[in-house]
Amino acid sequence: MNKYNILITGGAGYIGSILTPLLLANGHKVTVIDNYKYNQSSLTTSIINKNFNLIKEDCRNIKVLKSVIKKFDIIIPLAAYVGAPLCNKDPWAASSINKESIISLFKILSKKQLVIMPTTNSAYGTGNKDNYCDENSKLKPLSLYAKEKVEIEKILMNRENSISFRLATVFGMSPRMRLDLLVNDFTYKALKEKSIVLFESHFKRNFIHVRDVADVFNLAINNSDNFVGNIFNVGLSDANLSKYELCKLIKKFLPSFEIYKSSSGKDPDQRNYLVSNKKIENKGFKPKVSIEEGINELIKGLKIFNTKTFTNLH
Ligand SMILES: NC(=O)c1ccc[n+]([C@@H]2O[C@H](COP(=O)([O-])OP(=O)(O)OC[C@H]3O[C@@H](n4cnc5c(N)ncnc54)[C@H](O)[C@@H]3O)[C@@H](O)[C@H]2O)c1
Repeated sequence: MNKYNILITGGAGYIGSILTPLLLANGHKVTVIDNYKYNQSSLTTSIINKNFNLIKEDCRNIKVLKSVIKKFDIIIPLAAYVGAPLCNKDPWAASSINKESIISLFKILSKKQLVIMPTTNSAYGTGNKDNYCDENSKLKPLSLYAKEKVEIEKILMNRENSISFRLATVFGMSPRMRLDLLVNDFTYKALKEKSIVLFESHFKRNFIHVRDVADVFNLAINNSDNFVGNIFNVGLSDANLSKYELCKLIKKFLPSFEIYKSSSGKDPDQRNYLVSNKKIENKGFKPKVSIEEGINELIKGLKIFNTKTFTNLH
């Protein structure tokens, strides 16, 4: 297998701190640019690897990017203000990172450099009457976060050598933990608070484990000719679950979990959909971690956390 020189912005984040060690283990050279916004301590175990380079820097610093960019074969832009609540809290910073910095990055890349970028399936909003979505379904982003992800995906797909992964909501343990993601959040509540109040409890979402996300990037790196120029949904086909169904599943593992429904509260992107992941499955992607295994892993791992400060709003 070919070995590449790879740049990951935001590589110390929830996804990046699983993806970076995987790519290093596969013999690639990896440089991470991350400002460690959350004072996280991820990637400490990668420091010793001679193929790893860490630049603690803001991804908007175009001077720094320009000084290193030429040497990379592959760029994976993960640095972002992630999620609607954080973006709404500081819209200027969100736009400058999630949109402007990505546009500036694309401008300094050569056509030969491959970009593999996570976007989001939250832009599917509330789908057609069956709420069924594939990659050709109309996008209806409502939040600033989803709108800018959609804009960037359009620009991305207009450049050569690009791949977009519309990720489902990611779950599972990571060295830079995020407790604001739905499965992680609900499992934390079941474990620590023993109850939950659900709004829009019938709204369906799609999910994927963080290690399977790392695997899909790896698959695309090793088979890029087969992937370029395409957008793929990436999720577990057997995990299109409503919030209520997800809570019932968690309750199987933690029977004392009480689930209450509420009529107030609204999802900023009105996410309620059944996502088809057939296109990526047809390229040979087989997710390894089921939602049940993920919940089990979280029940074991979340015992570490005593406060809910590991969210993007803290
Ligand atoms: N986790 C999910 O469910 C999910 C779903 C769809 C798409 N995505 C996308 O995947 C990417 C990574 O998400 P994540 O879940 O790992 O989030 P995360 O918040 O854990 O990671 C973002 C990383 O970017 C860094 N960062 C933030 N601002 C920066 C700046 N100005 N300069 C340099 N670094 C900066 C943070 O320190 C962090 O390490 C994002 O683009 C996100 O939109 C995530």
